[in-house]
Amino acid sequence: QQWREHWQDRHAFERVQASGEAFLMPNITSADLDNMARDAEHRRLLGELGTRSLMSAPISIGGELIGSIMLASSRPDRVYATEDLALAQELSRRAALAIQAARSYNQALAATRARDELLSVVAHDLRNPLNTIAMAGSFALELLQGAEHQAARRQLDIIDRTVEHMNRLIQDLLDASRVQAGQLVLERAPTKPESVIREAMDMLQPLATHAGVRLEVECSPELPAVTVDRQRMVQVLSNLVGNALKFTPEGGRIAIGVTLHAGALRFTVSDTGKGIPADQLPLIFGRFYQARADRRGLGLGLSIAKGIVEAHGGEIWAESTVGSGSTFGIDLPVR
Ligand SMILES: Nc1ncnc2c1ncn2[C@@H]1O[C@H](COP(=O)(O)OP(=O)(O)OP(=O)(O)O)[C@@H](O)[C@H]1O
Ligand SMILES: [Mg+2]
Repeated sequence: QQWREHWQDRHAFERVQASGEAFLMPNITSADLDNMARDAEHRRLLGELGTRSLMSAPISIGGELIGSIMLASSRPDRVYATEDLALAQELSRRAALAIQAARSYNQALAATRARDELLSVVAHDLRNPLNTIAMAGSFALELLQGAEHQAARRQLDIIDRTVEHMNRLIQDLLDASRVQAGQLVLERAPTKPESVIREAMDMLQPLATHAGVRLEVECSPELPAVTVDRQRMVQVLSNLVGNALKFTPEGGRIAIGVTLHAGALRFTVSDTGKGIPADQLPLIFGRFYQARADRRGLGLGLSIAKGIVEAHGGEIWAESTVGSGSTFGIDLPVR
């Protein structure tokens, strides 16, 4: 209790604050204690503590004083000297650095949160006008059925595909902010692994044909059903296959497989594409990460995939050799 009283004494701090400088009182006299005391009771406690020697160093960040370190000794054989004050100053300098780092970290977190909130609000609000465009487009298509309107119908087709693309981007932004906020909701049901692969394949086969890349499936027979959110797992696989397509040149090959591996269900997507340098592998699952030359899309696909897989209690990983291809894997616990 007495110590607490002493530490709460603002005298030393006020003194540093006034001068902004460290101070050393090697030998405290009875007159000094009289000076420090707020009242008679305080004076009695200071006397009982028997403080012999005192020093204090300011803690400041960028010229702003935010506190001070105060050290007191009541041992007659321990009298603070200039070297001790230098040590106290070094301590407060390090404390200031630590406090500054913590402040910067909190500011960065707040900025990221603000960005995510903005993204999710904007993404959400973009959906309504986009739906209106899509609807107006399909009404227009009905009105323009004759052969003479063929050119107009081609334009409407472009509008339709662009709306779909934009919807996908918006969906990714919303998914990414859900993953970030830990608000991803899974609707799990027993699901056959092959059927997840089949559905992702059906979605991407036209793109693969268009890109001149062969899609192959390698399924072990008789795999157990897993309790997963089927739509979300299809989304993960199609993100992986979509990437493989994006980064594999014409004539290449993409293999999608599923096997049992060390008690887990392992999905893999391998491509014969350009590969990923080893120093980038640890980064690609981060939000908005894209290799410098790959700025197509938002750079969210893999981070969403990671969020979905982890929400299932699974793990996602990647291996790659530059120039010969990449393999992405998902290990899901079988329950
Ligand atoms: N199969 C792959 N081969 C080579 N590089 C890849 C492959 N998959 C991912 N990458 C690298 O990882 C980055 C991040 O992938 P991610 O799917 O998160 O974003 P994206 O595909 O660029 O954009 P989005 O998925 O949002 O449309 C890519 O930009 C690319 O640099
Ligand atoms: Mg992607």
